[in-house]
Amino acid sequence: MRVLAGRIAMVAALLVLVGGSSLAASRPEQGKAIAQRWCAACHQVSAEQTTASADAPSFMTIAQMRATPSALVALEGFLADPHPVMPEMSLTRQEIRDLVAYIGSLK
Ligand code: HEC
Repeated sequence: MRVLAGRIAMVAALLVLVGGSSLAASRPEQGKAIAQRWCAACHQVSAEQTTASADAPSFMTIAQMRATPSALVALEGFLADPHPVMPEMSLTRQEIRDLVAYIGSLK
């Protein structure tokens, strides 16, 4: 219950941040903003970005690897668990959906 309340609070805070827009199914533009903030330290998240870690695949590469809708959906599951190299990463379902929508838009 506490975890759920925390998530609701985080989603609410996110919604306030984005100007009170409703909880949409997916918002690629939000996903891009989240990616630039949380993922760009390691991944090249957009064509404009010039530096990234060599170990992390670019989001364009990930989009190509996840070319089918079901592979994209599977990405939501991958992102629900923090990935090993970034232990403190904890995303809300909405953030995950937005990120995956953004990645899907890159292919
Ligand atoms: C601290 C560096 C770092 C950060 C920050 C980071 N990643 Fe990664 N990520 C990596 C590395 C390194 C790999 C490749 C090695 C691996 O798969 O573990 C990777 C792999 C991935 C993959 C590949 C999964 C697959 O299909 O194999 C996805 C998707 C991904 N990251 C998404 C994200 C997203 C979304 C964010 C931001 C919320 C993010 N990463 C933030 C380092 C990072």
